[in-house]
Amino acid sequence: MPKILFGMQQLTQTTCFADQIAHFAEKSYLTAGKFLLLLYIKSRTMYSVQTSGVFHHFSENDPVLKDIALQVPSGSIYGFLGPNGAGKTTTLRLLLGLIKKQQGSILIFDKPIENHRMEILRNIGSLIEMPSMYGHLTASENLRIWQQLYQCPYSRIAKALETVDLANTGTKKVSQFSLGMKQRLGIAAALLHEPSLLILDEPTNGLDPYGMMEIRDLLKKLNYEHGITIVISSHLLSEIEKLVTHTGIISHGQMVFQGTLDSLVSRQLSASKLILNTSNNLQATDVLKLLQLDTSIENGMLTIPIPEKEMIAQLNRELVKANIDVYEINPVQKDLETIFMELINQTTHA
Ligand SMILES: Nc1ncnc2c1ncn2[C@@H]1O[C@H](COP(=O)(O)OP(=O)(O)O)[C@@H](O)[C@H]1O
Ligand SMILES: [Mg+2]
Repeated sequence: MPKILFGMQQLTQTTCFADQIAHFAEKSYLTAGKFLLLLYIKSRTMYSVQTSGVFHHFSENDPVLKDIALQVPSGSIYGFLGPNGAGKTTTLRLLLGLIKKQQGSILIFDKPIENHRMEILRNIGSLIEMPSMYGHLTASENLRIWQQLYQCPYSRIAKALETVDLANTGTKKVSQFSLGMKQRLGIAAALLHEPSLLILDEPTNGLDPYGMMEIRDLLKKLNYEHGITIVISSHLLSEIEKLVTHTGIISHGQMVFQGTLDSLVSRQLSASKLILNTSNNLQATDVLKLLQLDTSIENGMLTIPIPEKEMIAQLNRELVKANIDVYEINPVQKDLETIFMELINQTTHA
């Protein structure tokens, strides 16, 4: 396939993030016109997964999912976050048609899952909870079973093992694999039929930090080099914040946040404060008001929303000019984990 066609096809299937466009433009020697066309495609975000109004209950009067609206942009790595029992696995099972939809709409690649399940599943690789592999067989013997099931070429086994960095495991039995190796073998099985969407339920659960890093690097590579859209669930923000481009947060069966990771970070910044301690906080308040800063006094300390660094220098100068001694200027930032916990706790008390 000519390079340019490969690039165009990848890009129309994905959201075409700016860096991916630049990467393909460079690789494919795109002309300015085609580059602009691709930017136009980016402006019309396409979604690999879109749900709305999804409710689900296992027993009457006890809904486990309430109005789940997921939007997974094609080409993204979407982190589906929430504490244990929030409803992540149930949602992912619904996306794969493993449990029957009760209410709402589930579109995968713009098609309703209930009418196009087989066609859709041909393009999805999934790993829901622990992968089931035979311990007494080797990695490639295990994949042979999946390859026959998927009816894909035998050559895919070696390719998939290479992708997940298990090509050198030879005659080693899977029962002797580390948990990280087993998870990567599960991902290799999910990749055999070359899907464009991967759905992974807590693939880093129970892994040590090194195993987690290996999975993160592998998923980044699959996304960036192969253009695969990835939905990955986790109950720990810290495990996936370095990986994902987008995130949806679920708590008690309800979505409490959805957007880019950057928009979650902006929430963090807007929740950040600058704390000042001076020899005369009341007089300092007047000085800061003249600089149009929104001031309050919390626990005897002056508090303002974090300004630009030039303003921090200026307010310090103005306070000193007004003969006020400045003992402390302290930026206090909420970490992402705190923002995450606050979002989750919103529904606890709802
Ligand atoms: N097959 C089932 N039958 C009854 N209740 C279930 C079933 N599967 C999950 N649940 C309940 O649904 C809720 C959400 O579970 P789950 O989707 O597994 O959450 P998560 O994956 O976020 O930990 C939990 O309260 C769980 O006990
Ligand atoms: Mg789960």
